[in-house]
Amino acid sequence: MSAPRKLHIKSYGCQMNVYDAQRMVDTLAPEGFVETANADDADLVILNTCHIREKASEKVYSELGRLREAKDLAAQSGRTVTIAVAGCVAQAEGQEIIRRAPVVDVVVGPQSYHHLPQLLARAERQGRALDTEFPLDDKFNFLAPPKPAAIRARGVSSFVTVQEGCDKFCTFCVVPYTRGTEVSRPVARIVDDVKRLADNGVREITLIGQNVNAFHGDGPDGKPWPLGKLLHHLAEIPGIVRLRYSTSHPRDVEDSLIDAHRDLPALMPFVHLPVQSGSDRILAAMNRKHTADDYRRIIDRFRAACEDIAFSSDFIVGFPGESDQDFAATLALVAQIGYAGAYSFKYSPRPGTPAADMQEMVATAVMDERLARLQELIDSQQSAFNKATIGKTVDVLFERPARNPGQIVGRTAYLQPAHVMAGPDIIGQVLPVKIDSLERYSLLGALATSAASSAEIRSATASPAMTTGA
Ligand code: 5AD
Ligand code: SF4
Repeated sequence: MSAPRKLHIKSYGCQMNVYDAQRMVDTLAPEGFVETANADDADLVILNTCHIREKASEKVYSELGRLREAKDLAAQSGRTVTIAVAGCVAQAEGQEIIRRAPVVDVVVGPQSYHHLPQLLARAERQGRALDTEFPLDDKFNFLAPPKPAAIRARGVSSFVTVQEGCDKFCTFCVVPYTRGTEVSRPVARIVDDVKRLADNGVREITLIGQNVNAFHGDGPDGKPWPLGKLLHHLAEIPGIVRLRYSTSHPRDVEDSLIDAHRDLPALMPFVHLPVQSGSDRILAAMNRKHTADDYRRIIDRFRAACEDIAFSSDFIVGFPGESDQDFAATLALVAQIGYAGAYSFKYSPRPGTPAADMQEMVATAVMDERLARLQELIDSQQSAFNKATIGKTVDVLFERPARNPGQIVGRTAYLQPAHVMAGPDIIGQVLPVKIDSLERYSLLGALATSAASSAEIRSATASPAMTTGA
């Protein structure tokens, strides 16, 4: 048997890329590839790229510069290093990558990862390979039944893709072009994945998709199921104690999703619901299909169903035509909603999107100033949210040993990291923790001695014990 070849994947961008990286590892495992954390001793390096903003896609070319040196160095000692570019930059700029970066051997977009073994073989034969040479008829291969090895548990918490792509066509966004139109997986496939993960020790599932609440996968009854119904069904699977979903569009918040937050203790009361702007004029120019008041009402519906629910969001500052008044409306919305955290970005024109042709660009200095002001407000809300946890007893799902010896780290319902001194046997369990202090973004506390009382803890301890270790 030949020695295993080493594979290193560097992922940028969203959770979908993190998930896709695992899919690539699984696809290449039968080809004799094993993962390495060290790019320098890899035989195959895959850059799993992001095209969402200019800064994200520029990283590819600077990383390729570094890789060229590493590849040359390896060649001097007789070792061949193969370089692949995957992800959304590969999808959007495949030809240009081939032209601009001779160091690249393979270009593969998100819809063609199942072709990776063939692409590598082809690159070996003819020098370079681009996935557009393949037919895209089976592009959503994730709709195919997963191979037994395809869904492997890697800890306590796992992502499961339920839909891909987006039909919303926000005017600033490349996703409908790079990830394609919206496609949902059938319910039965998702249930199979979740059961298999649960059997392997996974306790928390995050359902992911670019527009996850547009989910409408075929149910066992032959009808399309909304996300809320899917969540109700998944909450019944033994061993699954926490459910999450990301990323949602305000327009697709259906009553069944609100009901799920009211009815399911396993559904975490933390929702990422990007609004992008608080100005109706800008929301219309963005083609968001909702107003600021629509958004406020949606937040109210969630809050009425689940009183301890918290929100995060994404914001873009400096969208073309954004005035001081528009920006003030964004600040006002943030002040009113009160977020547990949020991401904010300067607008970045993306080639091929309608907004890229809009006039009235906002000056960079103005964008910088708005971004700083928005981030200051969000930071103060986030830190108030975190500080409010001090002195409370909160449920934590323990995930792994922390860097400090003797400590185990887990997450609260709101994804705050929480550290306690304890043995590794608590990994995989949800336990109450009395929070004593906050260190930057991390909570420190002690296991509460009170008897395990919540439904979460009962179901966690009823399920098979987790094996511990890294
Ligand atoms: N410029 C700036 N931010 C963008 N986003 C998406 N496209 C752009 C763009 N062209 C942000 C949005 C989205 C998040 C993932 O990235 O806020 O919700
Ligand atoms: Fe992009 Fe999200 Fe708008 Fe879809 S809904 S186009 S993914 S910003």
